[in-house]
Order: sequence, then C-alpha cells, then structure tokens
Amino acid sequence: MKFELPEQLIFMKNDKAIQKHSNEPMTGKLCVISGATSGVGYEAVKSLAAGGANIVMVVRNENKAKVIKKEIEARYSVVVAYFIADFSDLKQVEKAAMDILDKYPRIDILINSAGIHSTKRKLNKDGLEMVFCVNHLAPFLLTKLLMNRMIESSPSRIIQVNSEGHRFNGLKVDDINWKKRFYTGLRSYGASKTAQLLTVWELAKELEGTGVTINAMHPGAVKTNIGNDNGILYRWFLHNVTWHFLKDSKIAGDALYYLASASELSNVSGEFFNLTTLEKPADHALNQENQKKIWSLSIKMTGLEKKDDE
Ligand SMILES: NC(=O)c1ccc[n+]([C@@H]2O[C@H](COP(=O)([O-])OP(=O)(O)OC[C@H]3O[C@@H](n4cnc5c(N)ncnc54)[C@H](OP(=O)(O)O)[C@@H]3O)[C@@H](O)[C@H]2O)c1
Repeated sequence: MKFELPEQLIFMKNDKAIQKHSNEPMTGKLCVISGATSGVGYEAVKSLAAGGANIVMVVRNENKAKVIKKEIEARYSVVVAYFIADFSDLKQVEKAAMDILDKYPRIDILINSAGIHSTKRKLNKDGLEMVFCVNHLAPFLLTKLLMNRMIESSPSRIIQVNSEGHRFNGLKVDDINWKKRFYTGLRSYGASKTAQLLTVWELAKELEGTGVTINAMHPGAVKTNIGNDNGILYRWFLHNVTWHFLKDSKIAGDALYYLASASELSNVSGEFFNLTTLEKPADHALNQENQKKIWSLSIKMTGLEKKDDE
C-alpha cells in the first residue's frame, strides 16, 4: 500500500516538488517590492530586473537601497527607484504609498516581502505588537492603498510573501497584542502570517473581475537574514545549525518571477503557493468567521476605516 501524507502535512512533500519556471519577459513592467534590501525580496529584485522589469523598492534602510539601485542598474537596462518606509510605522507606509501613487501612473506587480521573526514581544510607538504590524498590517495597508492604481493598470498581480510558518497559528482575535498570553516568537510569527492569509482570501474576492490577482506564497526554507536581530544564542544557533539546512534564497526569487509572470497564472487568484506549487493552507487560515473578524480589525488598525468615511 502506498503511504500518503495527511492533507495538512502535504507541505512537507511540496517542499521537494520540482519548481516551475517562467521565461516570459517582464520588459517595462513596474514592480513595487517591499523588503527589497535582503533575502527573498532582494532575490525578487534581481530576477525581475533580469526579466526587464523596472523596480520600485519600499525599504527602511536608504544606504542599502542606494547600493542595490547602483548594482542592479549597472547590471540590467532597467530603472530602480526606492521609497522609505519602516513597516513598524504605519504612517510611513501610508506616506510611501502616496508618494508612489504620485509618481507612477501604473503598477503591474506588487510583492510584499518585508518581514520579521522576533523571539521577544516588542511594541511599536503606537502600541502595536511589532511582528503583527510589520508582517501583516503594513503590507495590508500598502496593498489597499495601491490597489486602485493596480486595477487601473490591470492585468496586474499582487503577491504576499507569506510562510509555511502560518501553520504555527497563534492568532487570537481578542489578543492580537499578546497581552493575555505567553508570547513565543513562532506563534506570533504564525499569527501574523495567518492574519495575512485570511485577508488575502478577502482581497481576492474584492478584486474579482478587475483583472488584478492576489496570491500568497511560501518562499521556501531559504538562507536569509531573518531572525538575525534576535538574541546572541538565537543568532549562534541560526548561523551554526539552521543555516546549514536552508536552501539558496535564489529559489525564492525564481518562484516570485514565475508567480509574477507566468501566463498560466493570469486568472489564478486567492491561492497559496509553496514556492510554485499550489497548496491548501492550514484549516485555521481558512476559518470564515476569523476571516471576517481579521478583515474588520485590519481595516480598523491601519486607519483605513477613517479613510472610507472621508
Ligand atoms: N527565509 C525563509 O526561509 C522564509 C521562509 C518563509 C517565509 N519567509 C518570509 O520571507 C519574507 C522575507 O524574509 P527574508 O527571509 O528574506 O528575511 P530578511 O533577509 O531578513 O529580509 C527581510 C526584509 O524585510 C525588511 N524589513 C524588516 N523589518 C522591516 C521594517 N520594520 N520595515 C521595513 N522593512 C523591514 C528587511 O530590511 P533590512 O534589510 O533593512 O533589514 C529586509 O529587506 C518575510 O516575509 C518572511 O516571513 C522567509
């Protein structure tokens, strides 16, 4: 008898699936990418620029952005621009979105890759738990603010860099800030990624018929800088143990190129991909009741509610 993994463990098999590739050109397309200064986002910048796309990076570190702009423009015949936004500060995200809208009449691709994993509970200056803010609220806000421009530019695609880490769950709608529970890094990471998935399904519904698709993806277990700013023990373990098991982050850039360009995906929306393999996320990330709750909460916490009233 052939052994089949249970549905919720299929991701282990998909990790080893053969990755799909796209050679379809992206010449002249405008791609907005957050988290572009390192790891997955940086790989996306390189692969999309190699395919001919112009790049708008949304970053928190201007020095890193300047170096990458110089490197990519020297290597490829594309234009690279950047806007500054620390994703732990929603006001900065809003400002960057407004500046991008002012400057660019069309946006073809939005990739949200900025993300963190923190072993300690930290709050931002507005009292929001940092991981939830950076990994979910900020990309949600950026997406909502750029969405109409993407509809005007359709066909266009939005890709949220999510994670198999959503399976750690941790999302409790009445305790987003981890005031009532014992905080752990993995569970807070899982909560932020679960919340993001729940909003992706809702955004996909909102975008139906507009020519804009939105999907989420796991970029592989790849060697990047994520977690590097945690404590010394964590860092030691990351560098001396974890990194040996991780793959080259180039696979994430290739997967994002495929998701951004392959014509076979032009009508695929509201899905989760493990790299390039379509996959069913964890059941808790498909919970309809939480979907509605997280949607309203995200609208409220990002201040979009007030904008709708204006
Ligand atoms: N690596 C993996 O195996 C893996 C697996 C699953 C999912 N992911 C997801 O992949 C995405 C990218 O992570 P990575 O692995 O590429 O890690 P990384 O190398 O640490 O890159 C993270 C990026 O996010 C940016 N960033 C972090 N905090 C920010 C903030 N407050 N404001 C603005 N930008 C900020 C970083 O900017 P700086 O350069 O300034 O630090 C960097 O560009 C994340 O969403 C992560 O959850 C990664």
